[in-house]
Amino acid sequence: MLAEPLLEWYGREARDLPWRRTRDPYAILVSEVMLQQTQVARVVQRYLAWLERWPTVAALAVAPVADVLAEWVGLGYNRRALRLREACAVVARDGWPDDLRGLPGIGPYTAAAVGAFAFGRDELPVDTNVRRVLERTGWSPAHTPPEVGQAMMELGAIVCRAREAACDACPVAGLCPSAGVVEVAPRGRAGDGVRRERFEDSNRWVRGRVVEALAAGTELPEGIELQRLERAIEGLVRDGLVQRGAEGLRLPV
Ligand code: ADE
Repeated sequence: MLAEPLLEWYGREARDLPWRRTRDPYAILVSEVMLQQTQVARVVQRYLAWLERWPTVAALAVAPVADVLAEWVGLGYNRRALRLREACAVVARDGWPDDLRGLPGIGPYTAAAVGAFAFGRDELPVDTNVRRVLERTGWSPAHTPPEVGQAMMELGAIVCRAREAACDACPVAGLCPSAGVVEVAPRGRAGDGVRRERFEDSNRWVRGRVVEALAAGTELPEGIELQRLERAIEGLVRDGLVQRGAEGLRLPV
């Protein structure tokens, strides 16, 4: 069984991350949404500041949208912050549902993470790190207590890395068919062989340039295909991040 050496290693090596010291579903939800786009090291301070400002579901549920967006700056997709606030409004009104996927913005991964780490359920949140560990080890555990999920995430993040797996430091190398033979994907490709989109080609990048231009009061960026520009603007308007006024586009006041 992989679980035993994995948990022993996790107990010894795990990083002390603030969301691992709590079972509060709100705090765990905040951490998971932040971690979807931003690296652990950068999330820690932002997570602590967020919880200090809005310590509960009820507090975030009534926070002004502009404040929520401002606090989210630099954490990626703004829409995530708005959905997080919406989810908190639902929970403040109705309590936590049994099926967390019914909440705004909560997909299967986030639902499993909150289910496991806050509610102690036997669910495995499969993010890219966990998927890689499962694939390389060939492990399909029948039961995954929360600690196992955390340990798999940790292993995928710091040992069983996509490009440079540290098999010599791995607690389950002796049981792993991929130990020492991990294929390293060529640069620019994800571990699964799917070519990654250049950031400059992404809708998120175009959205960023539009918001930047509006904030600076300059012209909209040149050299971006009109269709892509329109798609980005439509998304920003839909998310309430940009408004169409009589004078054209502007940021909300
Ligand atoms: N990435 C996503 N969830 C995480 C967690 N709970 N701990 C560390 N990294 C994560």
